Amino acid sequence: MSAGAVIEQYKRWGNSVELRVFDHLPYQRRLEIARALAVATTSSAEQPLQMLPITPEEVYAKYAGVVALVDGQFGGYVGAMQPLKHGVRTMSEVGSLWVPGEFRRHGIGTSLTKSVSRLIQLDGITPYAFCNPSSKGIFDASGYQERTLRDVPEEAGSLCARCPKLGARVLGVECCDTVMVYEEQHDK
Ligand SMILES: CC(C)(COP(=O)(O)OP(=O)(O)OC[C@H]1O[C@@H](n2cnc3c(N)ncnc32)[C@H](O)[C@@H]1OP(=O)(O)O)[C@@H](O)C(=O)NCCC(=O)NCCS
Repeated sequence: MSAGAVIEQYKRWGNSVELRVFDHLPYQRRLEIARALAVATTSSAEQPLQMLPITPEEVYAKYAGVVALVDGQFGGYVGAMQPLKHGVRTMSEVGSLWVPGEFRRHGIGTSLTKSVSRLIQLDGITPYAFCNPSSKGIFDASGYQERTLRDVPEEAGSLCARCPKLGARVLGVECCDTVMVYEEQHDK
């Protein structure tokens, strides 16, 4: 990744928000964040939202990750999976989007999504996502458009087998989430 450690800094509701590349954070910080994500995505409080559980190892294995820090505190994460070929495109799934309860509805989820999408698009990769009802608006506002399973790599549907709410899905037949593909261009 060519991006520096701090991608963006801004003030929101009197707090300083910083977006940083996960891989550039100190080891201990990465460990804490990966563990926090694993706990959050297996917690019963989040289950109705159909978010796939993620292990710390899977957080480290992502192609790219962006973290929000609110006055230095962990304020959210989004990751992009290792790219896959799909026709002429190289595509990466943006997901594991999570913002701690106390920081929600301040635009952090949207900032994270826009940021990771631009970052990987600059590498020539087309981002896509499976959105649940609470994240669909964020992806709508971040340059994504509704598509179908045919527009994303076939392997992408295999993750549905791990969906905690609805169980295994058959690719192309049905999907519990909305398939969205990033259609904006950012050349600089
Ligand atoms: C989904 C999630 C990441 C959203 O994070 P967030 O930081 O609250 O996201 P945002 O603040 O950018 O946007 C959320 C909503 O708040 C609204 N909002 C943003 N800033 C706002 C403000 N200052 N005042 C009021 N509303 C605001 C947005 O317009 C958006 O509205 P919408 O739901 O109608 O689209 C968070 O709720 C979460 O972690 N949920 C559990 C995990 C999950 O479901 N992840 C998605 C997996 S695909």
